Amino acid sequence: MSSEQIPAPGGPEAVPAATVVLISGASRGLGLAMVTDLLERGVKVAAFARTVTPELDALAEKYPDASHFGSVDITDDKACQAFVKEVEAKLGVVDALINNAAIGQDSLHVHTPADEITRIIDTNLTAPLVLTRFWVRRLLGKGRRGRLVNITSICGQRGYPGLVAYSATKAGLDGATRSLARELSGRVIANSVAPGFFASEMSAVLGQTQLDAILRRTPSGRMTTPEDVLPVVRMLLLEDTNINGQAIVIDGAGSI
Ligand SMILES: NC(=O)c1ccc[n+]([C@@H]2O[C@H](COP(=O)([O-])OP(=O)(O)OC[C@H]3O[C@@H](n4cnc5c(N)ncnc54)[C@H](OP(=O)(O)O)[C@@H]3O)[C@@H](O)[C@H]2O)c1
Repeated sequence: MSSEQIPAPGGPEAVPAATVVLISGASRGLGLAMVTDLLERGVKVAAFARTVTPELDALAEKYPDASHFGSVDITDDKACQAFVKEVEAKLGVVDALINNAAIGQDSLHVHTPADEITRIIDTNLTAPLVLTRFWVRRLLGKGRRGRLVNITSICGQRGYPGLVAYSATKAGLDGATRSLARELSGRVIANSVAPGFFASEMSAVLGQTQLDAILRRTPSGRMTTPEDVLPVVRMLLLEDTNINGQAIVIDGAGSI
C-alpha cells in the first residue's frame, strides 16, 4: 500500500449528486442511451466518440446549453485532455466520469494478432485509466468530490471463448475500480457496472446459437438491454448510497 494515499476527507459527508457527467463512447449503443437518459433528467452531459453521429447532433440541438459532444479517440490522451478543458469551459467542472468506450473481440486467443491484443488493451484499459487519472487530478485540484462509473462486463468475471483480451481488460477495470475506491478515500465514489450481453454493434458478432445458449442460461428468460443498465447508472451518479468499489452485474442471473 502506498504511503501517498490521498488523505481521508475528514468526515462522512456524502459525495454530492453529479451535475456534469462526461461519457466516453457515446455515438451509439449503451453510451448514447446513457447520454439521452441523463439529459432527459436535467443533468449536463459531455460525451465523445471517434464519430459524432446524427443522434448526438440531434441531442446537441435539443439541449444546446446542457450538452457538449466531440469527436475524440480515447487513445489520444492529449485530445481527451483538451476535450475535458473544453467541457469545463462550457458546462462547468466535470464531477462524474463514465468510462464506456470500448472495442469488442471475436477471435480465439491463438488467432488474435499481437497488435490486435495491444489495441484492445490500449482502448479498453489503458486509455480509461489515463483519462480517469487526468479527471481525478483536475477534480481534486479544484477541491471537489465526484463519482466514477466504469462500464465493464460479465466477461470480467466469467469465461467466454473468443473474448480473452477483451475479458482481461474488463477484469482489469474492475480491479482498478476497487483500488480507486480505496485510494480516493471517499472523495470519489468508484463503481463498475457489468452488463450481460445486450444487442449493439459490439455484440452483433454473436450468432443465433450463442444467443440461444445465453437465453437458456438466463432465469429471467430475456437478454439484458441498455434500459436495464440505465437506472443503475443513474443511482450511482445521483443517489446518496454507500455503494463504493463494487462491480454490479446486470444480466438476469445469466452468469451465476
Ligand atoms: N454489447 C454488449 O453485449 C456488452 C456487454 C457487456 C458490456 N458491454 C460494454 O458496454 C459498453 C458499451 O458497449 P456497446 O455494446 O454499446 O458498444 P458499441 O455499440 O460498439 O459502442 C461503443 C462506443 O465506443 C466508442 N468507441 C470505440 N472505440 C473508441 C475510441 N478509440 N475512442 C473513442 N470512442 C470509441 C464507439 O464510437 P466510435 O466507433 O464512433 O468511436 C461507440 O460509441 C462497452 O464498454 C462494452 O464493453 C457491452
